[in-house]
Amino acid sequence: MTRVLSCIQPTGEVHLGNYLGALRTWVAGQHKADVFHGIVDLHALTVTEKPGLIGTNTLQLAAMLFAVGLDPDVATVFVQSHIAEHSQLGWIMECTVSFGELSRMTQFKDKSAKREAEFVSAGLFTYPALQAADILLYDANEVPVGDDQRQHIEITRDIAIRFNHRFGETFVIPKAVTPASGARVMDLQSPTSKMSKSGDDDSGVIYMLDEPSKIEKKFKRAVTDSDSEVVFDRERKPGVANLLEILAATTNSTPQKTAESYTRYGDLKSASADAVIAMLAPIQKRYNELLGDKAELMRLIHKGNDRAQVVASATLARAQKSIGFLSSK
Ligand code: TYM
Repeated sequence: MTRVLSCIQPTGEVHLGNYLGALRTWVAGQHKADVFHGIVDLHALTVTEKPGLIGTNTLQLAAMLFAVGLDPDVATVFVQSHIAEHSQLGWIMECTVSFGELSRMTQFKDKSAKREAEFVSAGLFTYPALQAADILLYDANEVPVGDDQRQHIEITRDIAIRFNHRFGETFVIPKAVTPASGARVMDLQSPTSKMSKSGDDDSGVIYMLDEPSKIEKKFKRAVTDSDSEVVFDRERKPGVANLLEILAATTNSTPQKTAESYTRYGDLKSASADAVIAMLAPIQKRYNELLGDKAELMRLIHKGNDRAQVVASATLARAQKSIGFLSSK
């Protein structure tokens, strides 16, 4: 059976980009493969400084993952810091990747440039090594992600191939899987930048928990262009293309087909808002119910952790044996 792994950071609120680019694919895949999904709080530490925030965000994110439809009976949802093997294999990965490779990561370049005046942790730089550990620990064949994570999956493959070459066959070589539409949801106010929870201005970001009136307002104000033709052209008309992409992803159509049904920007905006509001309503309801029972949420997390632990410890032991560490037994 195909093994799938993908993770999300507990930083800020979950947005429509996370959902259309990743979470929705995770839910769709859970009955076809053996799926593992991590809440990667160690990764969030690269940019989190306030005490207490990570724990609360982790619990809320767990509620969101179950609310979007991950079924704890089939999907393994775990918390990264609860499985010590991530940190342990992370170090081994740091010693298998080069400084030059890490320097070429566009996410590091972007994030460190944005934080120019702030503290830039070494963890922000070595982040892809920990991500490689997340993936390789679970012998994942497929990693369903949004477009922005492709480079991190590529470097994971390079690391795994190098390790196997150096120490003998140990890791499964994973591949990235991105959805046909929704792989790169853009900011409604700045449609040439991806929708992101780390931006300062969030007027172009649709959060999963936004109220209908807020969603309507954000779509109404979405940046388009000065002509009035509804066609799908990412280069020439990034704002309109983004709306078409969102509406298509939400209604399981294609942006090109969706474009044929509209002649006015206003109609396209209100149809997009309506479709997103309808899609999010049941998720928001389930989220609130789940968050109302923290003991049950913790039970579900422990259940996932237990399953993840078994796989992770076997893989780490295999990697340590390949390297030839002195056994502690
Ligand atoms: P994160 O937490 O930023 O995002 C979680 C998932 O959401 C996708 N995504 C998007 N998809 C489409 N449009 C967007 N605007 C958009 N924004 C985010 C991301 O591609 C991702 O799939 N480094 C990862 C977390 C991670 C991970 C892993 C992922 C850690 N270890 C192992 C896969 C496997 C990250 O920061 O994702």
